[in-house]
Amino acid sequence: MASPQPGILALGTASHAYLELDLTSSVDPASAVARVASLREPRTTIGGVNLVAGFRPELWATVAPDASPPGLHGFKDPIVGPTGYTLPATQHDVVIWLTGASYDVVFDLTRDVVAALEDVADLGHEVVGWPYHHDRDLTGFIDGTENPTLVEATEVALIPPGSPGEAGSILLLQQWEHDVAAWEGLEVASQEAVIGRQKADSTELDPKPKASHVARTDQEVFGRIFRRNIAYGSLTSHGTIFVGFSASQGILARMLDSMVGRIGGTPDDLTRFTRPLSGGYYFIPAADRLAAIGADDRTGARTGDR
Ligand code: HEM
Repeated sequence: MASPQPGILALGTASHAYLELDLTSSVDPASAVARVASLREPRTTIGGVNLVAGFRPELWATVAPDASPPGLHGFKDPIVGPTGYTLPATQHDVVIWLTGASYDVVFDLTRDVVAALEDVADLGHEVVGWPYHHDRDLTGFIDGTENPTLVEATEVALIPPGSPGEAGSILLLQQWEHDVAAWEGLEVASQEAVIGRQKADSTELDPKPKASHVARTDQEVFGRIFRRNIAYGSLTSHGTIFVGFSASQGILARMLDSMVGRIGGTPDDLTRFTRPLSGGYYFIPAADRLAAIGADDRTGARTGDR
């Protein structure tokens, strides 16, 4: 049976880097995918770093059509709601998510990865994430309350056995920047109405306000996803890296439509206080398939041997 890339489910790491890369114009897609696949999760003297690799769905489908879920597509066009609120499309060809116990080892690995890919892909976007007070978002709210357990996450996030792309996952990656002044200008009760949960302990409001974030992404309505969101940024600019995995792109896409108001008429209240700067969909193939492709890449550089 195929197995997933383990980093998807490896919770608890304190340091994250997300690299999005674009293939150089002259490179053959199969060679580029093989080079990415040849990157290995390293063992360092300090601790392991998980490496999760994914591809723009159309790129992966060109190279491994038998292992591609049908109909999967990149974030091709911006999503615009009825009020003009826009989710930008900033799709790249490759995503590499590195996560480890501390940023020094993650940093070393990001450099190794970019160097190993330098003749096939250029770095298009990078962002570094770190957990905020264990499980809180920078809004101050607990993020992940309604996440599936790790056992359930396998079913929620992974393409089921027997389907094309089995043990793979669909990732939606977005960087959201918070409007800190506007958010912190709200009383806690108003912030709670925006999220639909209490700030202290994440108890859901009953009833939850119709335009609240948890109402607009209600998994009983849209289906379930597995989130690995993390905080990013510095004093002057910070927010949420939304890292959502699902076995179905439609679930993620409908949640986005709901957040901008293309479903339900009005936007998610949360969109008054945060806006996405980036947006891409990636297919994260099963570990075995990736390893088989990587084994064919004779020129691939090994990372993590410093
Ligand atoms: C700045 C961006 C975002 C922030 C700060 C944020 C924060 C939160 C918080 C605090 C919760 C409540 C606790 C929990 O159940 O985790 C939540 C729930 C949720 N969020 Fe977000 N979120 C963001 C973007 C998104 C996006 C883009 C999606 C989907 C594409 C999404 C999907 C969900 C789902 C599915 C839930 C659980 C809903 C339920 O109760 O069933 N979120 N989010």
